[in-house]
Amino acid sequence: MNNTKGIIFDLDGVIVDTAKFHYLAWRKMANDLGFDITLEQNEQLKGVSRVHSLQQILGWGNKTVTEEEFQQLMSSKNEDYLAKIAHMDEGDLLPGVKKVLDYLTENNIPFALGSASKNARPILKGLKIEHRFKGIVDGNDVTKAKPNPEVFLIAAEKLGMAPEECIVMEDSVAGVEAANLAGMTSIGIGDREILKEADHIFSDFTGVDIEFIEKIVRK
Ligand code: BG6
Ligand code: MG
Repeated sequence: MNNTKGIIFDLDGVIVDTAKFHYLAWRKMANDLGFDITLEQNEQLKGVSRVHSLQQILGWGNKTVTEEEFQQLMSSKNEDYLAKIAHMDEGDLLPGVKKVLDYLTENNIPFALGSASKNARPILKGLKIEHRFKGIVDGNDVTKAKPNPEVFLIAAEKLGMAPEECIVMEDSVAGVEAANLAGMTSIGIGDREILKEADHIFSDFTGVDIEFIEKIVRK
């Protein structure tokens, strides 16, 4: 009988420090359009798909654009973002992540990816950890963006587990909400005030020790 729960990792801001590059790229775009976005506003963009992020940002700046301009802004933001992360490798895993992934692999505790990013697969390849995930679900695989739980529900299917058997690691408000809506255990990585809806909260991944993992994965 399977007596182990599975873990679903978000990517940006949990496994790798790409969250800051998303912010820098959106901020540059906003600045070019004549306004700014704050770190506080950025919290609302974390975990949010590219399309919804741009809609949100244009709303903050009171900007209306044509469909063609919208598409151009999305692709130039993405080019800028990809240029910023071009040289990512194993050394860019966030502190504490490698130890946990190694432990999960060595102990046959299954884990999957549940990310809003359409760039997730090439990033995982660059980090050389793609093959270690039992399933990968990213922005290309979903029709509904976080906080809709779709991404995590598909990841649970890939793990062959019921939602309540899954534990989600997330750095975003939208992602914690999605995990909670899916009926999964949510673990927030980041600010305690911002991620207050999570079942457990750590300021960064170094706080997620093996003892904690053992405690939550065993049924
Ligand atoms: C999420 C990030 O993981 O992916 C968001 O937190 C980002 O900031 C979203 O907008 C979509 O990413 P991408 O790589 O498809 O633009
Ligand atoms: Mg994230």
